[in-house]
Amino acid sequence: MTSLMPESEDALAILSGHYFQLFEDHLARLLDAKSDGVPERLRESMAYSLLAGGKRLRPILCLAAAERCGVGPEKALPMAVAIELIHTASLIHDDLPCMDNDDLRRGKPTNHRAFGEALALIAGDAMLIWAFGYALTHLPRGGISYEKVSKAVAILAEASGPSGMCGGQVLDTDSASRTDEDDFVYSVANAKTGALIRASVVSGALLGDISDTALRCYYDYGTHLGLAFQIVDDILDVTRTKAELGKTPHKDEAQGKMTFASVYGLDGAKSLAALNSEEACKAIEELFPEGDLLIDLAKSLADRKS
Ligand code: IPE
Ligand code: IPE
Ligand code: MG
Ligand code: MG
Ligand code: MG
Repeated sequence: MTSLMPESEDALAILSGHYFQLFEDHLARLLDAKSDGVPERLRESMAYSLLAGGKRLRPILCLAAAERCGVGPEKALPMAVAIELIHTASLIHDDLPCMDNDDLRRGKPTNHRAFGEALALIAGDAMLIWAFGYALTHLPRGGISYEKVSKAVAILAEASGPSGMCGGQVLDTDSASRTDEDDFVYSVANAKTGALIRASVVSGALLGDISDTALRCYYDYGTHLGLAFQIVDDILDVTRTKAELGKTPHKDEAQGKMTFASVYGLDGAKSLAALNSEEACKAIEELFPEGDLLIDLAKSLADRKS
């Protein structure tokens, strides 16, 4: 099958190549091994979506934040894996016919197109649960204290659950939950996407030694970055092609979604993306006045192409 994944050089992968490669290799090894008690078709379905070439923004953020707080990326990898498991599960579920009904994801037919709805649903469930078990088992083996692990994992749980990603998906898909409030589109974006992106940064930082003041900087950075990321996702849905995105464009309008592009127009949405990217930079510049990868990432994400 011809891949529809974007072929252009990816700024994120270039900026953070070391973390990216470390993560890719680890994930590939994890999914390659037949595991006792896991039905082979379930393993195949999970591997199909997980190894399909996502940008890995969340794991990269987690590994970068952890390293800046004194924890090497090898030790933080289980946290990054847990985050990507949750993110990819959310994509599998997001694409289901009962949600966004999408046929294409990461340049390939969506999980339910390839494996059927029942298996796609269960693969997503299994990954959500596996994520927490994996982090709780493997982070302490790397020498991180149980106290730090439990704080970081609790942040991840909160970001994924009813007031985070799951709650955001409800606001996005359940018409009875929609309101006319001006900030509704912000509530959706902050919950469905922003919470997990912020948790990627904060959970990585919490694995190390960090002051409350510094934690606040990572938190604010993650909040603005998460918002900028979803605003750009909404813009790309309108402006990019299937080949560029590796997913179906023009879905939001077709499904009557309330997005930053529909509410503020393309130019308005672009300004808001730039504004939030600048706010993210400002928050983290307090810790790295001389510059840092996290600053470069926030800048590159505001005008990403996929
Ligand atoms: C897509 O996320 C869904 C959103 C939360 C906007 P990404 O754009 O990070 O998707 P991948 O991981 O690169 O496929
Ligand atoms: C998805 O938002 C958010 C989550 C998966 C939690 P979208 O529905 O906008 O993501 P895409 O555009 O399908 O990737
Ligand atoms: Mg959706
Ligand atoms: Mg979708
Ligand atoms: Mg979208």
